[in-house]
Amino acid sequence: MTRRIIVTTALCYSNGPLHLGHILEQTQADIWVRYLKQKGHQCIFLSGEDAHGTPIMVAAKKQGLDVENYIASIAESHLSDIKGFQINYDYYHSTHSDENKELCEDIFDRIQPHIEKRTIEQFFDVHEKMFLPDRFIKGTCPKCGAKEQYGDSCEVCGAFYQPTQLIDPHSTLTNTTPEIRKTDHLFFKLSELQPFICKWLEESNIQDAAKNKLSEWTSETLHDWDITRDAPYFGFLIPGYKDKYFYVWMDAPIGYIAALKAYCSTRDELNIEDLWWENTQSEIYHFVGKDIMYFHGVFWPAVLKAANIQTPTSLFTHGFLTINKEKMSKSKGTFISAAKYLETYPSDALRYYFASKLNDQIQDIDINWEDFAQKVNSDIVGKIVNIGSRCSKIIINHFDGNIKSNFEDSLPENKDLLIALEELITQVDDAYHQRKFSIVVKLISTFADHTNQFIADHAPWKLVKENQMDRAHSLCSMGLFAFAQIIALLYPVTPTLAKNTFSYLGLPITWRVAFPDYFSISSFPRLFERIDADAIS
Ligand code: MSP
Ligand code: ZN
Repeated sequence: MTRRIIVTTALCYSNGPLHLGHILEQTQADIWVRYLKQKGHQCIFLSGEDAHGTPIMVAAKKQGLDVENYIASIAESHLSDIKGFQINYDYYHSTHSDENKELCEDIFDRIQPHIEKRTIEQFFDVHEKMFLPDRFIKGTCPKCGAKEQYGDSCEVCGAFYQPTQLIDPHSTLTNTTPEIRKTDHLFFKLSELQPFICKWLEESNIQDAAKNKLSEWTSETLHDWDITRDAPYFGFLIPGYKDKYFYVWMDAPIGYIAALKAYCSTRDELNIEDLWWENTQSEIYHFVGKDIMYFHGVFWPAVLKAANIQTPTSLFTHGFLTINKEKMSKSKGTFISAAKYLETYPSDALRYYFASKLNDQIQDIDINWEDFAQKVNSDIVGKIVNIGSRCSKIIINHFDGNIKSNFEDSLPENKDLLIALEELITQVDDAYHQRKFSIVVKLISTFADHTNQFIADHAPWKLVKENQMDRAHSLCSMGLFAFAQIIALLYPVTPTLAKNTFSYLGLPITWRVAFPDYFSISSFPRLFERIDADAIS
C-alpha cells in the first residue's frame, strides 16, 4: 500500500555555518526518505531556516548587518551545504516567511481559549534597552556557588532556576548589572493539555528512551509556557499587541507547516488541508536531536491539539555527534563545518560512515577519521566497487562488453547467488524500514564479501585460460548484476555513487535491478577514489 508521509528535519538556526552534527541529522532523514520514495511511497521531505530570536538579532548587529540580509546570507550558505551533501528536500523554507506569519496568526487565534496574560518580572539591560533572554545573563549559581553560570541552569551542578535567583547577575551583552522590571506576557496553559500529551506519548510509538525521558516531565504538572518576547526582538508581532513578539520556539515548528504550504503552492494537486491541517491520512515524522525533544514531544503536539490540527505521528530522536568521543570543539580543532568537510572528502563517504553507525536509538555517534577512511576504503572501494571492476574487465576483454542474456539460468552456481541476493533485498528492506542503517551497511558489506568470494572460488580468469568461455561469461555477468543490485540498494546512503554507476550502465536506479535482454557495457569508470585519513588535519 502506498503511504503518504511527511518527513522533517529540525530547522537550523540562521546564525552560523552548518556543522557535521547538523549533517548527521539531515543525512539520517534523507536516507530514510530516499528509501521510501524508492519503494514508491508518496513522501514529502521538508526543512528550512529557523531565522528568528534574540541570538540571531544580536549576531547580525555584531556584524553590522541588517538582520534580513544577515539571515539571507546564512540561508544561502546552509543551502549550499545541503546540496553538497545531497540532502534532497522537496522544499526548504524559512520561518521568516509570509506563509509562516499567516499560519502563526491563525494558530494563535485557534489556541486563544488556552492563552492567559500574566505580569512577570524579568531582567532588563538598561544600556541595550532590552529584556534579556536567560542565555544572555550570567552569574553565580544559587545552589552550588559556581561562577559564570547561565540564567536558566548551572553547568556545574545541573540545577535549574530562574535568572532572578542568580547571585551577582550580569548581562553578557554589556557586562552591566541588569534591572528587574515588570512586563506582561502571554502564557500557553500547557497544564490544560497535559492529559492529551500523556495519551499522545503512549500512542505515538516514539523510542522507549525518548518516551521515558518525556514521561519524567509529564509525570509532574507542566509549567505553563511563556510564548511572548518583548521588543526589540526579531520575529513576528503578536496580533493585537504593540511591541510583543512570538517567542522563536512558538513560530519555529509552525515553520514545518509553512514549508509544506509553500511546497503546495508549487503543486496544483496538493494542499495543506488534505496533507496536514485536517484529520488526514498523512503520517508526519520529525527527525530531531535529543536536545530539542521536549519542544517536539510536549509543546508542539500540545499546540497542534489545542489548535485542532493533526498532531505528529511520531518523533525520531537521535544522539549527538562527537569527534574522537568528545564534543566538537573549535579550540581543539575538531569543530568541522559542512563546507570544510566538502573541501576535503566526497559527501558519499560521510553518508556511508554515518549510515554504518546509525540505528533507531538515541545514542551519540562518534567520528574517528582513521576509522572513517578505513571503513570507506575497505567497504566501498575494496569490496563493493571491486566486484564491478573485476567482472566488467573480463566482459569487455573477452566478450566485447556484452552481458550474457540468460546468465541467471545458465549456471547452477549463479542460482545460488541469486537466491542469496533475494534474501539480501528482503533483509535490507526491513532494516531501512526500521531506520537501522547500520544493519543495512553490515548486510551489504557482508554480501559484497560473499560475492567476491564467489568470484574468487570460480576464478573466471582461469576459465578463460582453459577456454571455458561460456562459464566465464555467465559468472562475470552474474557478478556484474550482483554489483548493480548492491549499488541500487545503497542508493539511499550513497546517491552519488549510485547515480554515477547507473549512468555508466545506462539504466534507471530502481529498487530492483533488471538487465535488458541484450545489454552491453563500456569500460568501467573510476567510481570512487580511495580517501586519505590525514587529509582532514
Ligand atoms: N532551531 C532549532 C530547531 C527548531 S525545529 C522547529 C535548533 N536548531 S539547531 O541549529 O541548534 O539544531 C538543529 C538540529 O541539529 C537539532 O535537531 C539539533 O539537535 C541538531 N544538532 C546540533 N548539534 C548537533 C550535534 N553535535 N550532533 C547531532 N545533532 C546536532 O535546535
Ligand atoms: Zn550550580
